[in-house]
Amino acid sequence: MDQFPQPIRNPEVKYTKLFINNEFVDSISGKTFPTINPTNGQKICDVSEGDKADVDKAVEAAKTAFKLGSPWRRMDASKRGALLYKIAELMERDAQYLGSLETYDNGKPYLNSYGEMMFASNIVRYFAGSADKIGGKTIPVDGDFMCYTRHEPVGVCGAVIPWNYPVCMFALKLAPALACGNVIVFKPAEQTPLTALYMAALCKEAGVPPGVVNVVNGYGPTAGAAITANTDVDKIAFTGSTEVGQIIMQAAGATNIKRTTLELGGKSPNVIMDDADIESAAAWSHEAVMTNMGQCCVAGSRTFVHEKIYDQFVAKCRELGEKRTYGDPYELSTKNGPQVDKEQYSKIIELIESGKKEGAKVECGGEAVGGDGFFIKPTVFSGVTDNMRIAKEEIFGPVQQIFKFSTLDEVIERANATHYGLGAAVFTRNIDNAMLFVQGVRAGTVWVNCYNPPCYQAPFGGFKMSGLGREMGEYNLSQYQEVKTVMIKIPQKNS
Ligand code: NAI
Ligand code: MG
Repeated sequence: MDQFPQPIRNPEVKYTKLFINNEFVDSISGKTFPTINPTNGQKICDVSEGDKADVDKAVEAAKTAFKLGSPWRRMDASKRGALLYKIAELMERDAQYLGSLETYDNGKPYLNSYGEMMFASNIVRYFAGSADKIGGKTIPVDGDFMCYTRHEPVGVCGAVIPWNYPVCMFALKLAPALACGNVIVFKPAEQTPLTALYMAALCKEAGVPPGVVNVVNGYGPTAGAAITANTDVDKIAFTGSTEVGQIIMQAAGATNIKRTTLELGGKSPNVIMDDADIESAAAWSHEAVMTNMGQCCVAGSRTFVHEKIYDQFVAKCRELGEKRTYGDPYELSTKNGPQVDKEQYSKIIELIESGKKEGAKVECGGEAVGGDGFFIKPTVFSGVTDNMRIAKEEIFGPVQQIFKFSTLDEVIERANATHYGLGAAVFTRNIDNAMLFVQGVRAGTVWVNCYNPPCYQAPFGGFKMSGLGREMGEYNLSQYQEVKTVMIKIPQKNS
């Protein structure tokens, strides 16, 4: 990378309060909570802890900003686009700082944090361009009427986001919401509250009017639940666990039928046929599950390998697993940092132990690194069978599960034998097999001879319990709009 900026180790934290109506304010209760550096388990700082009262205050500010005649509602669509372009520019200006802050709070390697900032600014730029291209239709209805549709903003959006890609998730909710003219209240994950506050400051600097973007940090069952409970919130965009997705969808229905987009968990199958380019397939499969320390909704966490190439493929995966570097996330050569927190770390260790007990073979890793940080050695399991816990549960850690299969029909059936349906991949040189797999597998995205290459123009989302709706790309825009049908009587001239 040209002029790749060096990280700022443990950077100064500039904002710790809630962001409501374009001001940083203390929580009404005055409460704070600590945010922890997962690399060493030490506290970084205390952050204002919002709960229902703060969420309600933020929603009120958003509602006011959304009133007809307000600066935001009167703003030209092209100007909204220009604001988003400005935000993208500021994110790039400060990518070194933002990336360094992300690494501090989340533990992911700086190289990845910096890449995430670039990806996130591209998301914002993508939607910036669509702000003044959102149009309705003219419809030839029966009778003397003119009929057309207006694509209007939904209103107040609540965004409940996770910790695995904090800035990306912020951008992915912010940009389509603002492009369509909505206002938004964020509840970032309690593990990573810092970068969202900095993003809020950038929105203000770009010129976003007061109340349009608000950030209330706090915990899920308090601040998060207050967003789902508030009847002035018109829509919720959530990314996180399937379990909380179900709670949010229920609450959305029980209150005011909030529109919901849900991007949830996965246990995505990655199938290696016997005619695949083994070297390349092994490299993609390794990254598919190790990237971001496995903390990725679409991680390729079920690697199915054809029996004819099984031993050879397992050996390659072991080699890659053993070679993967872990440690100081600010070192540019580091591939894996720590897991995000103690809870995730303990859950992963527990699942690794269950894999051993249930008879899977540890090819490499299989244990914690030790020390104060939440580090886990890159782990490869072979001999995994479908009924083991590690075959069924989302591990969200650097743990590869390798299964054996014999035929395409069999593997498609096994790939689909889960309530998840986020991603899927097949590696093969046979076009017929690739097409059959694409058609047969029930997943929101299917890759052939690659796995999850970075892309913000294509829709992303889940079949089954992996979610509802699509994010990214043009498809995302419809989730932030209401369609209003307008009928106008046309006077007719008597002949
Ligand atoms: P989570 O689903 O509990 O948290 C995600 C967000 O939801 C956070 O902002 C959290 O504060 C909020 N939240 C939690 N309970 C809530 C409630 N009752 N009402 C409203 N908001 C609520 O995920 P968590 O606990 O961080 O991780 C648990 C597992 O979820 C992980 O091990 C992983 O398997 C999965 N996960 C999936 C993600 C994805 O990208 N799809 C991201 C994070 C976690
Ligand atoms: Mg949780």
